Amino acid sequence: MSTATAAPPKQSTRGHYVGLIGANTPICQEHYRLTLQVLDFPASEPGQFVQLFCAPSLDPDAAVSGERYNPTQTSRQAEFEWPIVGRPLKFHDEYLLANRPYLRRPFSIAERRDLPASDTAPATTEIDIIHRVIGKGTRELESLEPGESISLLGPLGRGFALPQTLTHAVLVGGGVGIPPMIYLAEKLARQNIPSVAFVGAQRRNLLPLALQTNSQPSPAGKPGLCCTEFARHNIATAITTDDGSLGMRGFVTAALDQYLGAATAAICAGTVVFCCGPTPMMKAAADVAQRHHVPCMVSLEQPMACGMGTCQSCVIKYKPAGAADWVYKLTCTDGPVFNAADILW
Ligand SMILES: Cc1cc2nc3c(=O)[nH]c(=O)nc-3n(C[C@H](O)[C@H](O)[C@H](O)COP(=O)(O)OP(=O)(O)OC[C@H]3O[C@@H](n4cnc5c(N)ncnc54)[C@H](O)[C@@H]3O)c2cc1C
Ligand code: FES
Repeated sequence: MSTATAAPPKQSTRGHYVGLIGANTPICQEHYRLTLQVLDFPASEPGQFVQLFCAPSLDPDAAVSGERYNPTQTSRQAEFEWPIVGRPLKFHDEYLLANRPYLRRPFSIAERRDLPASDTAPATTEIDIIHRVIGKGTRELESLEPGESISLLGPLGRGFALPQTLTHAVLVGGGVGIPPMIYLAEKLARQNIPSVAFVGAQRRNLLPLALQTNSQPSPAGKPGLCCTEFARHNIATAITTDDGSLGMRGFVTAALDQYLGAATAAICAGTVVFCCGPTPMMKAAADVAQRHHVPCMVSLEQPMACGMGTCQSCVIKYKPAGAADWVYKLTCTDGPVFNAADILW
């Protein structure tokens, strides 16, 4: 099965950028869509992520002037984008004493728009992050206002590779694993690869997606053009909620199982499942895909500190087919996308 999956794409150059906040809009309970305007952001792939420093940047003009981190500048102020303006940095400052988040937090790129230069503005990349407020860092993100700026590192990690043999893509997203599927849907549509999406949330008001006005999600888990982010690429979507408050009641993997079970062997032959969500959900999706003889790529969301291969906090056990023993891999730099069959869950 692993022969049908493609080699991971090469990592693009990563950098340290200042993102000007264009919008930070609530989209459902606990979820916000944060739009960052960034100058000179390198090429990125669906599945890649950014590390956000979850507090306003020191210099709000930096994003406008396109200022980037200067590696020759060694002061802590430059290094950490210290959020307190107008006075010298002290490491044990009230920022740390107030127990505010010091480590960056990883977030998938949910959408990317490259806007050409106009008479009044330089060429800019807009990056959308969909974040769920669950702790200290995301509570800081929640309070960011348009016009403020934040520091980001990216694009990081290796994204989803599309195999040459791919004729049909099945996207499976659960909770905060849904955002990278939106970006992937756009790429698949650009490449004219027929796709279908399965998205799951605990309940209706925790689904960070917009519903089409004239289309209701099927309570039987049958994909339809019910979800705006996918319908605009003509991708039918099945929605599941744990409590049945929207779409099919139950786990997204049950709807996936049903779909792959009904697909013909010919369809399954060119199909790959692309999945992101909580670990138990991805493991279950990988099991379903394996049962139907379909390769499955998963984008892992291990907790991360550095996001760049330094701290070793994000290891997973990895054993590709034919290998005598397992080795550790780093989710942040070797992944986050892996062939599900190669992971020791
Ligand atoms: C590659 C990658 C991509 C991600 N993409 C997104 C995204 O697009 N949108 C989004 O909302 N979130 C995403 N996440 C998860 C996000 O990074 C965490 O929710 C965030 O770091 C929480 O920060 P916090 O300070 O608010 O919470 P904290 O105060 O640090 O933690 C609050 C609680 O959440 C738990 N927690 C923190 N991080 C994780 C995690 N990764 N997995 C499971 N439990 C965790 C903690 O153990 C703790 O119980 C992604 C994670 C990774 C690794
Ligand atoms: S997050 Fe630091 S090594 Fe992966």
